[in-house]
Amino acid sequence: MRRRLCQRLSVALSVAILLSFYKSVQDIPQIILPHPLQKRIGVSKTPPTVTVLIWWYPFGKKTNIRDCNTLFKISGCRLTTNRQLYPVSQAVIIHHRDLTGNGSQLPAERRPSFQRWVWMNFESPTHSSGLEKLNGVFNWTMSYKRDSDIFIPYGYLYPKKRVGRRVVLPAKSKLVAWVISNWNEEHDRVKYYHQLSQYVHIDVYGKYHNDLQNNNVVQTVSRYKFYLAFENSQHVDYITEKLWRNALMSGSVPIVLGPSRANYEQYIPPDSFIHVNDFSNPKKLAEYLLFLDKNESRYQKYFDWKRLYSVHLAMFWEELYCKVCQAVKSAKANYNTISNLASWFQ
Ligand SMILES: *[C@@H]1O[C@H](CO)[C@@H](O)[C@H](O)[C@H]1NC(C)=O
Ligand SMILES: *[C@@H]1O[C@H](CO)[C@@H](O)[C@H](O)[C@H]1NC(C)=O
Ligand SMILES: *[C@@H]1O[C@H](CO)[C@@H](O)[C@H](O)[C@H]1NC(C)=O
Repeated sequence: MRRRLCQRLSVALSVAILLSFYKSVQDIPQIILPHPLQKRIGVSKTPPTVTVLIWWYPFGKKTNIRDCNTLFKISGCRLTTNRQLYPVSQAVIIHHRDLTGNGSQLPAERRPSFQRWVWMNFESPTHSSGLEKLNGVFNWTMSYKRDSDIFIPYGYLYPKKRVGRRVVLPAKSKLVAWVISNWNEEHDRVKYYHQLSQYVHIDVYGKYHNDLQNNNVVQTVSRYKFYLAFENSQHVDYITEKLWRNALMSGSVPIVLGPSRANYEQYIPPDSFIHVNDFSNPKKLAEYLLFLDKNESRYQKYFDWKRLYSVHLAMFWEELYCKVCQAVKSAKANYNTISNLASWFQ
């Protein structure tokens, strides 16, 4: 008896919610709609498709937009750049750089009550200007920062299905490599390079230096024992493809300059990388590299993780778009505004 009453109450409640949020009806049925009611208002039994509007292509460059189900087994997503679909989009992805670089052309139409604006940014705070103007504008954040609403690291390790017996590395004929195109004498990484290169030879590739072999970073770097995975600026969680792709995927030991060792250790095993701060100065680091060059068994220890893990590289930008769809699907119907974007991100 009591249960029936509860059921009725919940149906009544559903009706009330439905009426008040009629426009956001696509949002609601996933939560509580019982069957008969669904029929009456003509909502299909399968979860409705989530529409995710990509307001701009990131950096103004057209990207692939393929089916999320095929790519990541996330079903029921409609990704679009068609602004006509704004009124029915559950999420609108707005890429930070294009917003600040392009006269703040946020959507001008009223935001439907069910719609979330997603702030998307994968640059570091040093290279993200105009944040202060955006307090109270967005509903969700999506970035490399661990405490984002939608957290997408540039890469991560995932366990192998079967533990490997031994690790086979690409043949190594050279010692230290670095790939860099955004050369800036003011950057810590360039200053460190100048010091380190006095004690150990470093081959530099990129815009103002050597050409990559077949224009391929992994192919080029895999011949080297060590790779300088130096970030352009130092911020918590700002650990980019310089670590994941350039070093780890190449089978080269990363020498990292970025956030603290403790922060790196939240992503990769402590004995899989060398941190510049492990040494009191660049000369000591160079000596250690030369020691490892002579001691094969000690060097090999840096690859123990490969028996257990593989590297996943974030697939820019499709993985991000699809994760927004997934987030909409799993979100509770609560309202949220990022009131402190600037102070949170910096
Ligand atoms: C910048 O804004 C203009 C006008 O709103 C638009 O036509 C153009 O495509 C935008 N550029 C980028 C890179 O999004
Ligand atoms: C190589 O390094 C290991 C571990 O640090 C050490 O025990 C061993 O003596 C070293 N071998 C040589 C030849 O230096
Ligand atoms: C999104 O943020 C806006 C601006 O603060 C707010 O008015 C709206 O209620 C929020 N919507 C959702 C679905 O969280």
